[in-house]
Amino acid sequence: MSHFVAPSMLSADFTNLEKEIIRINNSDADWFHLDVMDGMFVPNITFGMPVIAQMKKHAQKPFDVHLMIENPDRYIADFAKAGANILSVQYETCPHLHRTVQLIKNHGMKASVALNPHTPVSVLEDILPDLDMVLVMSVNPGFGGQSFIENTYKKLKQLIEMKSRLNADALVEVDGGVTLENASDLLAAGVDVLVAGSTVFKSDNPKQTISELKNS
Ligand code: DX5
Ligand code: ZN
Repeated sequence: MSHFVAPSMLSADFTNLEKEIIRINNSDADWFHLDVMDGMFVPNITFGMPVIAQMKKHAQKPFDVHLMIENPDRYIADFAKAGANILSVQYETCPHLHRTVQLIKNHGMKASVALNPHTPVSVLEDILPDLDMVLVMSVNPGFGGQSFIENTYKKLKQLIEMKSRLNADALVEVDGGVTLENASDLLAAGVDVLVAGSTVFKSDNPKQTISELKNS
């Protein structure tokens, strides 16, 4: 299987959002990665359901929504309604993770769990077969443009090993500090989905950069 590329709109020009969305529509990108932050679980605040619902009117590719919010269960129905196709919740925010995952699926979305850099892969042992995707955070969540944490490779190895041991088929997504330089190493390590914010939107030619990530 060839891999997926999901540009993070956090680094897009919010004053020209329609133009940015069309740019992604017309690129080799597979999904839109949308980062929702609440100023509680993470220090930053971004956007929520109303903005996502508006974006959906122009977007022609699936929405990969990454919730960095406390108590995400409260909003799962709302994100489904706003147009999320894949919903990631942070492991650290979900005391009843099994229930949360079922709730996401019951609302017709793909269920994904995100792990902070310090959260070990082993916590997924009893939930992995139920997941459609695991999002491995390779920076501390909250901001775009941070540098990649190298320990991520160790976690990827453990995750891929756990997947094969449990015969689980969850996609592996990596998010944070992904560049044209480390993309091929990440893919070689078994990553299925590359998220990239600043690498795409701060480049001179975002469409070309997306193609390069896609052809890495
Ligand atoms: C960080 C977000 C990321 C962020 C990635 O908390 O989850 O999706 O936008 O940005 P870059 O690719 O610039 O590290
Ligand atoms: Zn993200």
